[in-house]
Amino acid sequence: MGLFDGKVAFITGAGRGQGRSHALRIAQEGADVALVDLGSAGKVENPDYRTSTSDDLAETQAMVEALDRRALTFEVDVRDHQGLKEAADRTAAELGGIDYVVANAGISDGFFPIWDLPVENWQTMLDINLSGVFYTCKATVPHVRARGEGGSIVLIGSVAAIKSYGWLAHYSAAKFGVRGLATAIAKELAPEYIRCNSLHPGAINTDMTAAMEYLGNVPREQLLQQFRDQQLLERNIEPRDSTAAVVWLLSDESRFVTGQEIIVDGGESKK
Ligand SMILES: NC(=O)c1ccc[n+]([C@@H]2O[C@H](COP(=O)([O-])OP(=O)(O)OC[C@H]3O[C@@H](n4cnc5c(N)ncnc54)[C@H](O)[C@@H]3O)[C@@H](O)[C@H]2O)c1
Repeated sequence: MGLFDGKVAFITGAGRGQGRSHALRIAQEGADVALVDLGSAGKVENPDYRTSTSDDLAETQAMVEALDRRALTFEVDVRDHQGLKEAADRTAAELGGIDYVVANAGISDGFFPIWDLPVENWQTMLDINLSGVFYTCKATVPHVRARGEGGSIVLIGSVAAIKSYGWLAHYSAAKFGVRGLATAIAKELAPEYIRCNSLHPGAINTDMTAAMEYLGNVPREQLLQQFRDQQLLERNIEPRDSTAAVVWLLSDESRFVTGQEIIVDGGESKK
């Protein structure tokens, strides 16, 4: 018996990193999954960002199938609300509905003081890290409601949504928006027992860290040391640590938790 037997989860940014980790644990707990990532559907410019490839997404799918669960893949840009709607509609039609949503796709950028932050980078950040989360919810929520059995939605923020960081104003602003969005959705869906929370991880060593290295020109080891120094616990956080919180938030173990900000940051926000 798994925590999510018979359930269906819709996960964005599932090609690698934390999204892949979430997908695998959710599948291990018995759910079928819809895996969304950019793949060959487009490119992120301003910043020039290396997103997951079609092969990355196919690899996540194969890993889920090795767990004997069904996995649909969708190469969609989360800035494409119509594409997300089609993915959600197909998921519900082919997997029988949607119970859980993990809005996880996101990008980072280099470091800029506000006066040097290019308007194009600001816009891309807001489009992907905030509007993309809204579009994901808009596309999937009708299907979660149609089930009539409650449900759970997790929006991925960041410690940068709890504590604002300089030189990352656009990232922080978008993630603060995600936090507000989660609470609003929690209020709207509470009468149908659909819960919505935001999850705020501290820095994790994924391809997002690599992006900060090549866009921000800061060596990876220096970044990781900086991440550790920012925490109380002073240790690297792994994708499985944020995944553990996602699983808890989706499961009935958190059945009275909604509209909350859950922080997995090694104490960074309290330092
Ligand atoms: N890594 C960290 O330090 C950290 C810390 C806190 C929060 N987060 C957040 O966690 C989430 C996952 O990040 P990660 O660390 O796994 O990084 P990652 O780069 O490994 O994964 C992000 C995924 O999102 C996908 N993506 C990016 N833009 C997209 C678009 N326009 N359309 C569709 N897919 C797109 C990427 O292809 C990638 O697969 C992000 O929302 C990120 O902001 C990361």
